[in-house]
Amino acid sequence: MTKKRRSSAWYGKHDKDGFIHRSWMKNQGFPDHAFDGRPVIGICNTWSELTPCNSGLRDLAEGVKRGVWEAGGFPVEFPVMSLGETQMKPTAMLFRNLLAMDVEESIRAYGIDGVVLLGGCDKTTPGQLMGAASVDLPTIVVSSGPMLNGKWKGKDIGSGTDVWKFSEAVRAGEMTLQDFMNAESGMSRSKGVCMTMGTASTMASVVEAMGMSLPTNAALPAVDSRRMALAHLTGKRIVEMVDEDIKPSDIMTREAFENAILANAAVGGSTNAVVHLLAMAGRVGVDLALDDFELGSEIPLLVNCMPSGKYLMEDFCYAGGMPVVLSELVKQGHLRNAQTVLGGDIHAYADGAECYNDDVIQSFDSPVKPAAGLRVLRGNLAPRGAIIKPSAASDHLLDHEGEAYVFDNIEDMKANIDRDDLPVTADSILVLKGCGPKGYPGMPEVGNMPIPRRLITQGIKDMIRISDARMSGTAFGTVILHVSPEAQAGGPLALVKTGDRIRVSTSTGALELLISDAEMDARRASWQPDEPHYTRGYAKMYVDHVLQADKGADLDFLVGKDTRPVTRESH
Ligand code: FES
Ligand code: MG
Repeated sequence: MTKKRRSSAWYGKHDKDGFIHRSWMKNQGFPDHAFDGRPVIGICNTWSELTPCNSGLRDLAEGVKRGVWEAGGFPVEFPVMSLGETQMKPTAMLFRNLLAMDVEESIRAYGIDGVVLLGGCDKTTPGQLMGAASVDLPTIVVSSGPMLNGKWKGKDIGSGTDVWKFSEAVRAGEMTLQDFMNAESGMSRSKGVCMTMGTASTMASVVEAMGMSLPTNAALPAVDSRRMALAHLTGKRIVEMVDEDIKPSDIMTREAFENAILANAAVGGSTNAVVHLLAMAGRVGVDLALDDFELGSEIPLLVNCMPSGKYLMEDFCYAGGMPVVLSELVKQGHLRNAQTVLGGDIHAYADGAECYNDDVIQSFDSPVKPAAGLRVLRGNLAPRGAIIKPSAASDHLLDHEGEAYVFDNIEDMKANIDRDDLPVTADSILVLKGCGPKGYPGMPEVGNMPIPRRLITQGIKDMIRISDARMSGTAFGTVILHVSPEAQAGGPLALVKTGDRIRVSTSTGALELLISDAEMDARRASWQPDEPHYTRGYAKMYVDHVLQADKGADLDFLVGKDTRPVTRESH
């Protein structure tokens, strides 16, 4: 092989450093020809038993390796920090940027030429892509894939979505605690990520729409043997891609991000895609802004999956998956031209796509809902924006004025939400502070706070909730999220008091606190931030450097990339 590869600066040297790099690798039984200048492919694995959604990634790594060897590459698997959404406190989001740093520095420090990212659970996909984009070596994503549909008492039940429903049913006295506990094992009955269109499947769907994975990656169930074959094909392809020198910066263009936004609307994707796509764009220097998400606001909901619809990811897969959604976008002339990991244009992913169930994947002519995209709200309560997902909200609350009931922090909310004398009605607007990137810290998924018990027992299922938090991609309700700047950063959200009136207008994109400017100034003059919860280590660095939600909540010093070679040796 004649082309000088990045890895030759490790394995191609005929001196003491080359000896050291090769000899220690040979202790694993790799023969001489593994070091003959062939592409070295890093398999960046977030497998962990503490990230159950990613527990199938060891097997998939073997599939990738088969493909890499077959194509004449040298596969090397390495672990990075794993982020188990359901297991980490205070929130996995606090650590997304730490994973991104781990991925970036691991790729940069080692002698590899291309990377396959194995992720799945919510924060692992964006964290890995952010890190990989900042080094900009050829990269392909293989996702965990969704769990099989949840099953309980003869019915399909969906990850997350039905947890929120069941837990409210218990609080309303409509479900026994014993039934509630019995549903646990039926909900999660195979390897894989949440099988609703939660954040994990949303991110896998938008990554496919961006052309950063092979087609069909998003929806194939984790345990479907075709996913193992897809891993194998990805291993083959990444070797070719190294020779073709197709990098994330060639694929993750402005057009690709626009395709991601359109796809996110069509699949009824998670609000969390907003912070992740903004952060990813920041890494590759694409000037994506919160308002760009309005691009999707007129796109209809095509995919009838929970939480916006009724089916689950297994059904989405068998109906044809993302290629069908992309083909609908192509038919309407929405899909932008953008290169993919296959080297061609994203339109090729839609070629020949057939829909096998038009109730699961509907069409522009007869969609699940007419307008599915996220809406950006602004006003004196959110000068730098907030978002709402109308497809998961109640129509009668999309334009509404009501009286605020304020919780100063999560402890205040938990201690008081079920009080019998809580002075709220169905028209009240619940406000939760202190749950933004700096405040919690880490911007957790608590924005869909529970309906107060005294209302839920009256049959009230939804009311307006406003916070600087995120919400789970599996959640639903008229929930206004990501209010920016957050309360802890001195945003106007910090100044709201119980009894203030708030106007929400999704139709005009307004979010207003109905107090005078003079009153706002007076309150601001006496405002103090809370004492920080973390005073050392990564969390301190995070709080000191995290950007607000409208900038993707990346760390300020991680924005952008550095593709310079590492020249200095360790010995
Ligand atoms: Fe991991 Fe939903 S909790 S994908
Ligand atoms: Mg229809």
